[in-house]
Amino acid sequence: MTETDTPEPGPAGRGGAAPSRRALIGWGGAGLALGAVAAGGAVALAKDDDGADHTDTTGAVAFHGAYQAGIATPVQDRLHFAAFDVKTDDRAEFVQLMKDWTAAARRMTAGRTVGEGATGGLAEAPPDDTGEALGLPPSRLTLTVGFGPSLFDRFGLKDRRPEALVDLPPFPGDNLDRSRTGGDLCVQACADDPQVAVHAIRNLARIGFGKVAIRWSQLGFGKTSSTTPGAQTPRNLFGFKDGTRNIAGTETGRLEKYVWAGDGDGGAKDAWMHGGSYLVARRIRMQIEVWDRTSLSEQEDVFGRDKGEGAPAGKAKEHDAPFLKAMKPDAHVRLAHPDSNDGITILRRGYSFTDGTDGLGRLDAGLFFLAYQRDPRKGFIPLQRRLSAHDALNEYIQHVGSAVFAIPPGVRDANDWWGRTLLSEEA
Ligand code: HEM
Repeated sequence: MTETDTPEPGPAGRGGAAPSRRALIGWGGAGLALGAVAAGGAVALAKDDDGADHTDTTGAVAFHGAYQAGIATPVQDRLHFAAFDVKTDDRAEFVQLMKDWTAAARRMTAGRTVGEGATGGLAEAPPDDTGEALGLPPSRLTLTVGFGPSLFDRFGLKDRRPEALVDLPPFPGDNLDRSRTGGDLCVQACADDPQVAVHAIRNLARIGFGKVAIRWSQLGFGKTSSTTPGAQTPRNLFGFKDGTRNIAGTETGRLEKYVWAGDGDGGAKDAWMHGGSYLVARRIRMQIEVWDRTSLSEQEDVFGRDKGEGAPAGKAKEHDAPFLKAMKPDAHVRLAHPDSNDGITILRRGYSFTDGTDGLGRLDAGLFFLAYQRDPRKGFIPLQRRLSAHDALNEYIQHVGSAVFAIPPGVRDANDWWGRTLLSEEA
């Protein structure tokens, strides 16, 4: 992170820095790289001397675009997610906060400090930037903002609440902790360096002091879903590959069909959401100690895939098409697969978490499940109804936190700001 005013980065830019010895390419080609910009944030993939592609974990992801970055963007390794309560009743003050947050997010995602930086301001005043990311590269930081259902009870927004932004119903087995549930606003910070993600949330919270307050937050590590075809599939805390069958950031057709809110969705009233999406966040505790005493064959039956390769039951390779009937009727993959759910498809972007122990000597660990979709009524809700009723995995997991957010479209240029299509009188 730098205090100097370097130019805004280009689509696959790196905060003005010259490209390294490695040739910067997109998803395997320059043309596709431009597609990735349009799909919500470019990323620099680097082709190494050995010919293999490695994601450049230090560069900048474009902040401007038709869609917000942090959804179709190849998943970064670390997460800091924060849900906020709004404290102000003054609409103009809230709009100003969205503009201030956008300006800060634009700078931080380019690897620059907030405002006048950590050391550049008046000696008598606290610095604009808290300073802990000084000297660190952008680390592919993305900041993605969302609006919870309760926000629409404020600022005269009742009529603008999108039809698809329904309150999530209770599901069998839920054990929701109110202090980890809901929120008027959310910011998802993803980066390849945890310090960069934490710095971003901390500085946004600081800018919002008196107008918003953090309701709950979650740190995550070891992405549990890949949106990058060809990359090694990450493993979750049960040791299984997770994200094998997911929507890839390159699949513009499937993103449009299942993830981005379209023109006609919800009618003219919801037109402000065009290019946005809906996020369901669930804190899912995993009973690690019970799982670790479970036999390998039972573990594999629970998912319907083998543990080593990640191949579906009866198949040899991870990416072989699953034959659902070869799996137990209550296997997670069999129940979650689109063929068992009238084609329902979501984009998963979750992270593992370990938040110490629970006082009984057990790890407070699990999956912070994040799923993007075009409409939760046709995505998470029916899927989770089925899983919560029948999934063999339920013996080993419990949903303990929950939230849903409307994710507005991207910030298009230097004059645009988060939520303009919802909040601007002229929009
Ligand atoms: C701690 C909880 C969970 C764990 C450990 C878990 C783990 C897994 C694993 C290992 C796979 C197979 C690999 C893959 O295709 O990604 C998978 C697939 C999947 N999971 Fe989960 N999952 C969890 C919760 C959920 C929830 C809550 C949902 C949705 C409501 C969900 C939806 C899916 C879907 C849609 C697939 C892909 C199925 C396919 O197309 O074959 N999962 N999950």
